Amino acid sequence: MGKIVFIGNYKGGVGKTTTVVNFANYLSKEEHKVLTIDLDPQSSLSEIQISSFLSKTLAELEDDEVLNHIFDLYITKIKKYPALNIPFPEKIIHKRDDNYFFIPSSLFYKKGVGLDTLAMQMLPNLEYLSILGDLLNRFKNDYNYILIDCPPSNTVITQSAFLSSDYYLIPSVLDHLSTNGVVHYIKVVERIYSDYCENDKNEDSVIAKTIFGKKPELVGIFYNLIRGTVNYEAEKIQFLNELKKSFSNNTPYIFKSYVNNFVDIARDTAYGNSSNYIKDFDSVVKEFLKYNKPQI
Ligand SMILES: Nc1ncnc2c1ncn2[C@@H]1O[C@H](COP(=O)(O)OP(=O)(O)OP(=O)(O)O)[C@@H](O)[C@H]1O
Ligand SMILES: [Mg+2]
Repeated sequence: MGKIVFIGNYKGGVGKTTTVVNFANYLSKEEHKVLTIDLDPQSSLSEIQISSFLSKTLAELEDDEVLNHIFDLYITKIKKYPALNIPFPEKIIHKRDDNYFFIPSSLFYKKGVGLDTLAMQMLPNLEYLSILGDLLNRFKNDYNYILIDCPPSNTVITQSAFLSSDYYLIPSVLDHLSTNGVVHYIKVVERIYSDYCENDKNEDSVIAKTIFGKKPELVGIFYNLIRGTVNYEAEKIQFLNELKKSFSNNTPYIFKSYVNNFVDIARDTAYGNSSNYIKDFDSVVKEFLKYNKPQI
């Protein structure tokens, strides 16, 4: 069974997209079959993948080759033709190699209808929230890992990613405010799941739980962009204590491995690659795989 993992944090610039690029590289090289999905209306991940792997620009893709097309199709279907069966538009899935596939989103769809614009046309009800999950269910088992780059927003599209995923990972930077942000983010994910799926006052919650299954499980938080002068272990203990205050007996896991701030990582990520010299992300992925192993 394919594992759906979203990478998220409300804070911008903490390395969500970088994490997806590095995880996808590592896992695909280790013979796992990987699919990435770009849910960010800024489409940075897509821009990187399209230019590096297909030698094209994002603007050159046809409208039916990007994720926006799916939401657009289904918004119309829900509004006008709820009983219609739409064939799965396979052209949205692009291939780097036999183990690495990706679904891009685009800022240029229909001359500027980004995922944010489409999300505004969607209501927070089960019909709209299950578009992404329905799509994922069609090919979930063709992959070992589906990695979702989640934007720092709380739209119906982002909520549907929370609901449809099995696991999530939070990259963060190591400072007090960011740790508060992480606490808030976890609480939002949990609240969204319980509002839709565990709310006795909501008569749809039985259907919601049947559709979405279990609550997404937080694999852990890992720290990125660490500067050389930081004493990671000492700082980590401090943040662990802060997390304990908020989550008492269910304290989230903080990865032992962390990622330093290295210009190599930024430069190679821009070409869709992992750094040949800096192996920090490899250690994070290995730790992630250890967590996952019992369930594979
Ligand atoms: N470990 C690192 N070392 C050096 N630069 C990094 C590292 N991680 C990320 N960066 C750089 O920091 C910037 C932000 O990273 P990234 O785009 O992955 O963050 P993000 O969380 O996806 O941002 P957004 O919220 O805008 O989507 C990028 O320029 C990226 O190349
Ligand atoms: Mg990003």
